[in-house]
Amino acid sequence: MHVPGLTRSPHARVELKVNGRSVELMVSHAATLLHVLRNDLGLNGPKYGCGLGQCGACTVHVDGVAARACVIPAHGVAGRSVTTLEGLGTRDRWHPVQQAFEDAQAAQCGYCLNGMVMQAAALLAREPSPGEARIRGELSGNLCRCGTHVEILSAVQRAALRMSKGADS
Ligand code: FES
Repeated sequence: MHVPGLTRSPHARVELKVNGRSVELMVSHAATLLHVLRNDLGLNGPKYGCGLGQCGACTVHVDGVAARACVIPAHGVAGRSVTTLEGLGTRDRWHPVQQAFEDAQAAQCGYCLNGMVMQAAALLAREPSPGEARIRGELSGNLCRCGTHVEILSAVQRAALRMSKGADS
């Protein structure tokens, strides 16, 4: 049945890497990267918060750069390398930022955690020893409703120290 004004979104075949694995998908032109990661690939690390690119809950890495998956069209990452929270470390060996968040108990409800960890990990990958102001600035666009900011800051500082000492990479 044809409904005037309601057209089906065209699809495209997209090849990309997700957490180091090659993936090939048919995606709607309207589908966001977040939708495809969560609904098609079952990767629920990235969270749906605002859906507007404003809260950071959906943060992933695209070619190593922190990006908001809720506002990136899935077809826009063709040929790129996407890392989600699931691909940051392994079950046996967490990424130092993940370990630092656990050590610092830097979560209450935990909904912002994905974004905080992914944003911080991207920062430390390019700036191993950021100062407090730099960390605060980097995470200023990641919202936490519980007010866990002091513990989050402490966790990122802890991770930076650990990584700079070469305890992990
Ligand atoms: Fe993507 Fe809020 S859900 S920035």
